[in-house]
Amino acid sequence: MAARLSTCLLAALASNHSAVFTPSSPNYNSSLTIYNLNIPILPAAVTYPSSTEEVAGVVKCAAEGNYKVQAKGGGHSYGNYGWGGESGEVVVNLANLNGYSYDNSTGYATVGAGSRLGSVTTSLYNSGERAVAHGSCPDVGIGGHATIGGVGPTSRQWGATIDHVVSATIVLADSRIVKVSETEHPDLLWALKGAGGSFFVVTEFVLRTEAAPTGGVSYTYSFEGLNATAQAQVFRDFQIFISNPNLSWEFYIMMVGLPQVIEITGAFFGSLDDFNALGLEQAFSIAPAANVTVIPNWLDMVAIWANEAAAAERPAYFYAKSLDVMPNALLSNETIDSMFEYLTTTPDDALTYQLEVQLVSGAMAAVASNATAFPHRDVLYWIFAYAATNGTVSKTTIDFLDGFNDVIYSAFPNENFYAYAGYVDPLLSNGPELYWADNLPRLEQIKTIYDHHDVFHNPQSVPVVSSDKWL
Ligand SMILES: Cc1cc2nc3c(=O)[nH]c(=O)nc-3n(C[C@H](O)[C@H](O)[C@H](O)COP(=O)(O)OP(=O)(O)OC[C@H]3O[C@@H](n4cnc5c(N)ncnc54)[C@H](O)[C@@H]3O)c2cc1C
Ligand SMILES: *[C@@H]1O[C@H](CO)[C@@H](O)[C@H](O)[C@H]1NC(C)=O
Ligand SMILES: *[C@@H]1O[C@H](CO)[C@@H](O)[C@H](O)[C@H]1NC(C)=O
Ligand SMILES: *[C@@H]1O[C@H](CO)[C@@H](O)[C@H](O)[C@H]1NC(C)=O
Ligand SMILES: *[C@@H]1O[C@H](CO)[C@@H](O)[C@H](O)[C@H]1NC(C)=O
Ligand SMILES: *[C@@H]1O[C@H](CO)[C@@H](O)[C@H](O)[C@H]1NC(C)=O
Ligand SMILES: *[C@@H]1O[C@H](CO)[C@@H](O)[C@H](O)[C@H]1NC(C)=O
Ligand SMILES: *[C@@H]1O[C@H](CO)[C@@H](O)[C@H](O)[C@H]1NC(C)=O
Ligand SMILES: *[C@@H]1O[C@H](CO)[C@@H](O)[C@H](O)[C@H]1NC(C)=O
Repeated sequence: MAARLSTCLLAALASNHSAVFTPSSPNYNSSLTIYNLNIPILPAAVTYPSSTEEVAGVVKCAAEGNYKVQAKGGGHSYGNYGWGGESGEVVVNLANLNGYSYDNSTGYATVGAGSRLGSVTTSLYNSGERAVAHGSCPDVGIGGHATIGGVGPTSRQWGATIDHVVSATIVLADSRIVKVSETEHPDLLWALKGAGGSFFVVTEFVLRTEAAPTGGVSYTYSFEGLNATAQAQVFRDFQIFISNPNLSWEFYIMMVGLPQVIEITGAFFGSLDDFNALGLEQAFSIAPAANVTVIPNWLDMVAIWANEAAAAERPAYFYAKSLDVMPNALLSNETIDSMFEYLTTTPDDALTYQLEVQLVSGAMAAVASNATAFPHRDVLYWIFAYAATNGTVSKTTIDFLDGFNDVIYSAFPNENFYAYAGYVDPLLSNGPELYWADNLPRLEQIKTIYDHHDVFHNPQSVPVVSSDKWL
């Protein structure tokens, strides 16, 4: 069976031996550059198609051989889902599909699905200073970003990366190449915007662009040497500040929490005077060390975020979780105290914990939660808890992070908490319910229509359901 797959793939890829790696290829192991070292994966094949037609050929070989398929964009899935998320899948590595063009009459950019965010940002800026919303890490792929969410510093102004997608070229499970847009297969465009990897391989995106901001203010407020009580105090002040519904959409803020440290960092896409008028520094009852810098150019601003994210780009042994806080269910002071008290119990084998708390809302919340497969529109902020270890992540470390989320869940026994599919948590037993919430039933219907044999699969992809469940 494996030999038949290899033969089929080679034929689909113009007999190019360097476009197919299988376990019997000499360079197979070195072709597997997985991100989460805790989840080793041995695919049935890793392919490097050079065109949409070759992608279709690969999908055809895989489907005929009953192999599962995942597209691999930037490879930044926390569960290595670009490699399938489990061994034995056929990987469509899109590295060669990295074209770019810009149409000045529409303001639309056409971007190959194998591009990384860093190159997309630079190309857009060089096309008359254009930009789209996206996260801070330049090596993240547009493939996984524009099919899952894509939330970053300009999301309060422009929404998520998915909100820029106008149309796309995709390869379906039956290897048909189709274009999806508001008028062509709108159900698939809807599914693309939050759950694309469960439905097809996107080979090219058409993105609506915005005028890039002409720089702005970059700021960092650092609090160091804090005990848990003082960390909680900073968090309380932070939560009060970010829960003001009048906060400018040009204001971006996140909090990083490490043992004894809290760093509040972000950007304001306006003048220094308008930034100062927000009164952020005065919002804290403990005085921070401040660094407020005017950055005159968009690419310089993006470079600051890339620099801050550099350490996170490296593959690591880690476990991570996400949790959404709604504007009508803010954390009480007691819950915040308990959170930081809990974090002092970091297990010995965890190198450290890291909390990332990111304000969203603004333009994110201006879109209906059923307008895209990504449902989390009303979230005020996300809490991402992360712990890295030197080798295989122990149960103690996993329990530690689960316990952290439990501190918050237990304060809201009647509230449903969800999770962001961009930061998959492979250990969730109900991942699809938490990633897609009320949009899951519609996704299951679309899945069942277009991918009845579940060709596009990872351990937490949208499942195929039997048609009686639709009624
Ligand atoms: C260091 C780091 C920083 C991050 N920062 C942010 C951030 O600021 N904001 C944010 O929102 N997220 C962030 N993320 C999460 C990231 O956006 C998601 O993990 C995203 O899915 C990664 O995309 P990728 O192409 O790099 O990953 P991959 O592992 O290649 O793909 C992830 C999933 O998307 C699917 N996919 C990829 N390409 C395609 C395609 N062309 N067609 C169909 N399906 C496809 C894959 O099959 C897989 O299921 C970050 C992740 C990391 C590791
Ligand atoms: C590739 O890795 C696997 C598992 O990690 C190992 O069993 C195998 O021997 C390796 N093959 C080569 C050629 O190094
Ligand atoms: C692009 O379009 C803008 C207006 O939409 C116009 O001002 C500009 O001159 C155009 N640039 C080029 C290179 O055609
Ligand atoms: C925590 O630090 C604050 C400020 O430094 C101090 O007033 C307080 O007593 C400390 N609390 C504990 C429990 O050590
Ligand atoms: C928000 O703005 C409205 C209208 O200007 C004002 O009435 C309200 O008090 C403001 N809310 C806060 C929390 O500042
Ligand atoms: C302040 O921030 C700017 C922009 O990120 C950076 O270039 C500069 O080195 C920082 N200054 C200090 C003292 O950290
Ligand atoms: C919670 O903490 C904030 C900030 O310290 C304080 O202003 C507020 O009064 C506290 N709320 C309650 C209900 O104690
Ligand atoms: C992790 O590895 C580094 C380098 O090998 C070592 O110095 C450190 O003590 C290890 N930490 C833990 C918690 O095991
Ligand atoms: C979203 O929900 C509203 C009602 O709440 C409905 O009118 C609309 O058709 C739905 N949109 C989609 C795309 O399902």
